[in-house]
Amino acid sequence: MSADFSVRVADWERDWPALRALRHQVFVVEQHVPEAIEWDGSDAGCRHALAEDRDGRAIGCGRLLPDGHIGRMAVLRSWRGRGAGSAILEQLIRLARDDGHSRVVLNAQTQAMPFYARCGFARCGAEFEEAGIAHVAMERVVG
Ligand SMILES: CC(C)(COP(=O)(O)OP(=O)(O)OC[C@H]1O[C@@H](n2cnc3c(N)ncnc32)[C@H](O)[C@@H]1OP(=O)(O)O)[C@@H](O)C(=O)NCCC(=O)NCCS
Repeated sequence: MSADFSVRVADWERDWPALRALRHQVFVVEQHVPEAIEWDGSDAGCRHALAEDRDGRAIGCGRLLPDGHIGRMAVLRSWRGRGAGSAILEQLIRLARDDGHSRVVLNAQTQAMPFYARCGFARCGAEFEEAGIAHVAMERVVG
């Protein structure tokens, strides 16, 4: 992992302003995901991982639903390609393992499939569209 950032387990009650600002920038502003889809009411019941730079500024995040579903993976554009996304994903997989899940699943934007494949995920479903973006289901054993 790069020494320029660290990843920690976040708490929605305490960290929601940083998580919301990050996801607003990446999904709503950059990817034009409608707010009504982005803010689906599930966040308070999720476990969250947050990547921060050396000054404690949020640079990336992701969440784990109680059913073992990973989602909302986002890294600020200026930080991409430096390992933050992979580190967030590994943190979420550790949380899933701690929660007793034997596998995790996610709906990958098709453009992000190579990223998830590098992290051990394999495609497990047909392509579908959500928020105007092509997705495909992927899974990984966490045993
Ligand atoms: C997808 C995302 C979270 C990856 O975060 P990241 O910090 O750039 O990921 P990493 O630096 O850990 O990348 C790991 C590897 O995957 C590759 N990779 C990352 N995103 C990729 C993409 N969209 N397509 C192809 N390869 C990608 C990287 O090049 C890197 O390869 P390398 O090890 O050979 O250098 C980030 O690009 C992002 O926020 N994208 C916009 C939002 C998004 O699409 N989220 C996913 C929704 S399913």
